[in-house]
Amino acid sequence: MTVAPSGPAPAIPLSRPVVDDEIRQAALAAIDGRQYILGPRCRELEDGLARHACTRHGVLTSSATAALWLALRALGVKAGDEVLVPAHTAFPTVEALCVAEATPVFVDVDRFYTMDVADAAAKATPRTVGLLPVHLYGQPADLDAVGDLAARLGLWVLEDCAQACGAAWKGRRVGSFGRAAVLSFYPSKNLTVMGDGGAVLTDDEDLAVHVRRLRDHGRRSKDVHAEVGFNLRFNEIQAAIGGVLLRRLDVMNERRRALAARYDAGLAGLPLATPAVRPGARHVYHLYVVRTAQRDGLAAFLAARGIQTGIHYPVPAHRQPAVERLASPALPETERLVDEILSLPISAGHTDDEIDRVIATVRQFFGA
Ligand SMILES: Cc1ncc(COP(=O)(O)O)c(C=O)c1O
Repeated sequence: MTVAPSGPAPAIPLSRPVVDDEIRQAALAAIDGRQYILGPRCRELEDGLARHACTRHGVLTSSATAALWLALRALGVKAGDEVLVPAHTAFPTVEALCVAEATPVFVDVDRFYTMDVADAAAKATPRTVGLLPVHLYGQPADLDAVGDLAARLGLWVLEDCAQACGAAWKGRRVGSFGRAAVLSFYPSKNLTVMGDGGAVLTDDEDLAVHVRRLRDHGRRSKDVHAEVGFNLRFNEIQAAIGGVLLRRLDVMNERRRALAARYDAGLAGLPLATPAVRPGARHVYHLYVVRTAQRDGLAAFLAARGIQTGIHYPVPAHRQPAVERLASPALPETERLVDEILSLPISAGHTDDEIDRVIATVRQFFGA
């Protein structure tokens, strides 16, 4: 959910994707390449993504939602299997589980907005097959605790890195801590392709082969379909753009981190909580989320002054009508935070001056 600005000052969007001539030229070259689906640019980007995350394989898909479904299918998920997943996430995380016919078992979050692993442990049953931690807002979940629980219960781990491309846990990039991981390239994400896109990362050769087959109609060869998959392929024009931006990803993430530090300093001392960073985590600030009991008033005040904000997410996944049938029990922390969180503008495309204007306006709201 976003709160649209309405004031006379130049608007500050929640996110601003970078567009420049190098990107335009890459897209034009791909058009002239005359091979539009799963060609050399896709293969190059798959290799680049795998190298960046230190995994053996990268498989491009049409979105992260598709990547999640493909990974779940390749992990062998079947009806009745339970998967532990935080309720405080984008609904697609849960949607993919439902489409794969698994049962999402909703878990609360900790003060870093990521899976509360103690709650996950308490909710495991003999039907539990996996853990689906989400590195929400760009911050890794506690991957030590996730790994320990998975090892103790014999579960697989599928990392949802849709918001955390380039984030790291104890010096190692996310995406290589489980059996597989997914990335999203939606336009506001840390790495984008100017449209929808996603990827599965894995060290597991069989899983990578299976995901490749499923994303292309279950094809074993041109005319033979080994199983029913779907068309969830990727394309050359967007891969060309992704290739340019992947080379800039670390610099763009540093820029997000610098802007987050600017917010931290500028908002200090106000009656609002700035994002807490877990020791050992390298946060890449897909979103900069503050927390205040005066959230709705602050959002309206900013909107009136041309500053767009967002709420990620106002309706937790376990309370979505689409999964009402699961009659999920209450999750106290998740249900409290959804009324207090507010995402302030941040992206590699924002200027220092814009962030300073947001800070000054937030301070004005609080009378500081
Ligand atoms: C945490 C999380 N998981 C999954 C997705 C789905 O990504 P996509 O839009 O690429 O399908 C998103 C995107 O909103 C997300 O934020």
